[in-house]
Amino acid sequence: MITVIGSINMDLAVQMNVFPQQGETVHGELFKTIPGGKGANQAVAAARLGSQVTMVGCVGEDGFGETMRTILDNENINVDAVKTTSAPTGIANILVHENDNRIIVVPGANYEMSPAHIDAVKDVISNSQMVIMQLEIPIETTEYALKMCKEANVPVLFNPAPAANFNSKWMDDITYITPNETECALLFGEDFEQVLEQYPNKLIVTLGSDGARFFDGEHHIHVPGYMTKAVDTTGAGDTFNGALAHALAEGQSLDEAVYFANIAGSLSVEKFGAQGGMPTLNAVYARLGGFEE
Ligand code: RIB
Ligand code: NA
Repeated sequence: MITVIGSINMDLAVQMNVFPQQGETVHGELFKTIPGGKGANQAVAAARLGSQVTMVGCVGEDGFGETMRTILDNENINVDAVKTTSAPTGIANILVHENDNRIIVVPGANYEMSPAHIDAVKDVISNSQMVIMQLEIPIETTEYALKMCKEANVPVLFNPAPAANFNSKWMDDITYITPNETECALLFGEDFEQVLEQYPNKLIVTLGSDGARFFDGEHHIHVPGYMTKAVDTTGAGDTFNGALAHALAEGQSLDEAVYFANIAGSLSVEKFGAQGGMPTLNAVYARLGGFEE
């Protein structure tokens, strides 16, 4: 079982041909209210691939909260540890433009996640093959959950997004960490070669359409991106993380797992919405086959 400790948002997404400048009004092409939140997205990514997933998070007593609970439940995710709080469900205002997006997150209920909530799911955590975390819940709760995983000897896949809330002293308690290039530069510095060598088989830098890279202790491994037409890159990183956790929990090597996750990420960008293009296992295998020929 994979446990995701993280955010649940409703995404208010607008697709547009041009981003507005300061003081400017532009017309968008499409508006959709769609499920999101890095935690929920990563949970859905792993569940679609066939992992058994438990979501630990908070929503509000509002329509968005009810909808998000139902959506996660319909994805076969265990939502018993999703609490309903008096704060409003988190939202993300997302502007989507081809290979780019701009996001404003209002955390709301996600910031109601407390160490007590983590204590209440101690058994779930210790029975997990892997725990996935991001940085859209309070820092003290993240820190508390990391310690619990360490004590229970459960591997942690940590996606340090948004990066500003990261504390480098957590590195010892993290099994895998997956920043994108911007996050990696912010957290560890610009010299990727040296940074990767400092964290062999632990630090995996995602490169968007250029794939991902890590250092295996001897060699620098670059998993190339899979060329495809991006409709919406929102949630591509989340798909990568959910798929990476799925593959690692299944016992794949890091090398194989990064290949697998990279293909899953490439499929996810072909449809609108963070969870829209998240693939099933068959879809990933179909593309992996094509990729290797
Ligand atoms: O990673 C994409 C996600 O970030 C969106 O779904 C949005 O909710 C924000 O949390
Ligand atoms: Na998508």
